[in-house]
Amino acid sequence: MRGNAQPGAVFGWMQRHMSRRTAVLSRLVGGNAVELSASGAWVELSDGRRMLDFGSYAVTLLGHRPEAVTNAVREQLDTQTTATRLLANPVTARAAAGLAAHFPGLPRVLFGLNGCDVVEAAVKLARLATGRPRILAVEGAYHGKSLGALALTHHPDFRRGLVGSTHAVTHLPVDDPLALDRETADDDVAALVFEPIQGENGVRALDPHVLATWCATARQRGVLIIADEIQSGLRRCGESSLARALELDVDAVLLGKPLGGGVMPLSALVCRDQLFGPMADDPALHTATFAGHPLACAAVPPTLDMLDRLAGRGAELSAAFGAGLHDLAAEAPETIRAVRGRGLLWGLQFDSAATADRAVAQLARRGLLVSPCLSARDTVRLLPPMVSSDDDLAHALSALRVTVGTSRPAVAR
Ligand SMILES: Cc1ncc(COP(=O)(O)O)c(C=O)c1O
Repeated sequence: MRGNAQPGAVFGWMQRHMSRRTAVLSRLVGGNAVELSASGAWVELSDGRRMLDFGSYAVTLLGHRPEAVTNAVREQLDTQTTATRLLANPVTARAAAGLAAHFPGLPRVLFGLNGCDVVEAAVKLARLATGRPRILAVEGAYHGKSLGALALTHHPDFRRGLVGSTHAVTHLPVDDPLALDRETADDDVAALVFEPIQGENGVRALDPHVLATWCATARQRGVLIIADEIQSGLRRCGESSLARALELDVDAVLLGKPLGGGVMPLSALVCRDQLFGPMADDPALHTATFAGHPLACAAVPPTLDMLDRLAGRGAELSAAFGAGLHDLAAEAPETIRAVRGRGLLWGLQFDSAATADRAVAQLARRGLLVSPCLSARDTVRLLPPMVSSDDDLAHALSALRVTVGTSRPAVAR
């Protein structure tokens, strides 16, 4: 086994040095095996089994190790891996220019490594640019778990014991178009931050009419508008930006997850000059040692190119998979309470959190990896990569069908 580590040793290290509960969960999902390698839509395990990866928390939209991306990163690995950050770096600058070209009207780019890095940067810049303290987010929102981002995340479980350490955020009720009007009466709100589709909250799309009303009022009141598309953007849901496709006049789009091609950790804030203003005045205002790392930025041009080239295939997969999931739900209405989704982001809502948890383990046993929803534990997320084949979709639907008890087990692949 690669790294001379037997699975027993891996679980032992995790139990002793990392999270005991994570070790138990990954042992259950992997059936005592660990992941060894991955390519395209499939992951290989230490016991020789393979699992179709419709999970990975929305990172592997291009599948694992897409060749164009690994080639670009490998070339960069052989050229320069660390930026001096005093000299200009062409790879980082080209990645910024590529992103800005992808989002016309949003010319400024700030890189991070994780989603919450750019949530925090956007909130900080919005407060400085407007001189106002408050932020509006949305009930059900998920924006990450570092302290600044956590203030915007709505689920109380993630904030237990931390009240007082996060900054002033008000969460708007999803179905109240007048909520923003009420909350901005005192001219003390810097920004509205929203996910067009709340992925972690069970794949729930916000009402476009409510969003349009909020954004129109925000514009009148000088409130900056920030679309967190870390999960739903970059064509996961068909469009590069759902907010822009809805013609919402946003000041910034936040990107992450698949931005590094599923190869490198990378996130970006792509925004207008006004939001970026404080950085233009003082670039040292928001820095991080590894932000704009050339190895990660080398992944951006091939990733954007592949996402565009595979968009048509993504739409085909979406139509076929969505139809399959709706059929499945119609066959098992007592177990599956709802199917929600768009593009390659789908949520299956089970009758309870316990059933959803069991389904995650049972699906893995049947060779399908999925992602639980962090803020809606009764819902399981299915995130097919754009490189899935028709056979892969059939395999996923068959594993789901057996798991919800509507057909007999098929012969293993
Ligand atoms: C919409 C959204 N924003 C922010 C985040 C936080 O990203 P990260 O976990 O990379 O910090 C996530 C993660 O799931 C997300 O879905």
